[in-house]
Amino acid sequence: MENTTEKKKIVYSAIQPSGTITLGNYLGALKNWVVMQEEGTHNCIYTLADLHTITVRQEPAKMRKNVLDAYASILACGVDVEKSIFFIQSHVHQHAELAWILNCYTQFGELSRMTQFKDKSAKHADNINAGLFTYPCLMAADILLYQADLVPVGADQKQHIELARDVAGRFNSLYSPTFTVPEGFIPKNGARVMSLQDPTKKMSKSDENVNACVSLLDSPDVILKKFKRAVTDSEARVAYGEGKDGINNLMGIYSVVTGKSMQEIEDEFAGKGYGDFKVAVGEAVIEELRPIREKYEKLIADKAYLEESYRKGAEIAERMAQRTLDKVMKKIGFIHK
Ligand code: TYM
Repeated sequence: MENTTEKKKIVYSAIQPSGTITLGNYLGALKNWVVMQEEGTHNCIYTLADLHTITVRQEPAKMRKNVLDAYASILACGVDVEKSIFFIQSHVHQHAELAWILNCYTQFGELSRMTQFKDKSAKHADNINAGLFTYPCLMAADILLYQADLVPVGADQKQHIELARDVAGRFNSLYSPTFTVPEGFIPKNGARVMSLQDPTKKMSKSDENVNACVSLLDSPDVILKKFKRAVTDSEARVAYGEGKDGINNLMGIYSVVTGKSMQEIEDEFAGKGYGDFKVAVGEAVIEELRPIREKYEKLIADKAYLEESYRKGAEIAERMAQRTLDKVMKKIGFIHK
């Protein structure tokens, strides 16, 4: 795979292994990771961003479990270590090293504008640590280490990608071209899957209301129940429109899962009530997630395979990352050992 890196475009993305992987993660990002891998026209590099998770306190045993669960879940979604590089961020020390360097090329004002920092610091007021603030520099390091061209993410990561682009451009003009300036790839549908309980808020694994968020590993019964309880409006007409956040969200989910357009969905449910529609969305999601859940059960039982896979990924990633880091350090003026 490495021999072809020069010709093919590089796709890079990552996900935090901080608990369950959600339907939002899947539709907004993971599904596209697999599409891009299967297209065969890109070299795909995917990471479990475990270093990112410690901006919020983690319980050690739970953290280890979350990382393995997430690794197995993402393989179950279709990421294939024979076709993509898929590793755990903390296994490749260059991420933390480049992050430190990029901290020194990123302005306090830029980081202060990050909406995710503002949201998270409001939510974790007792632990507004420096890592939470400089988190986008680590994310920029992730992307820039691999000279990524394209970064498939959900809409909530757009501002972070912009920052990575700005930092890359700044470094390139201060020294000489060093980093590829990456483009975000945000899907037309599914980029912002909303909470099933408050459709003005993004679906998030940290939501306190368990009915707000569908996990990739939820059982069919639980998924159906969550969709049946989804908050909608009083109009009782399946149609996309302003002020219909709940229905818009369900239509968006149904559209990505079935490939149907909004018009086709409106036609399919013309004259039918929200009850029928919610069940149809729930069932479509159940069918989409069923093979993932089954594959996950097999993979999580095979720790030796998981270990072999993430070690192999880290080994290749480390070589690629070191090439970039060497270049960066030389340009800045560090002495080679
Ligand atoms: P994270 O772990 O919060 O989410 C992983 C991916 O899922 C997308 N996503 C969603 N998409 C649609 N609807 C939602 N409700 C939803 N919730 C999450 C996210 O946009 C993301 O693509 N900082 C990143 C992880 C990261 C990263 C990177 C991403 C670290 N380094 C380098 C890209 C490149 C994060 O916390 O994503």
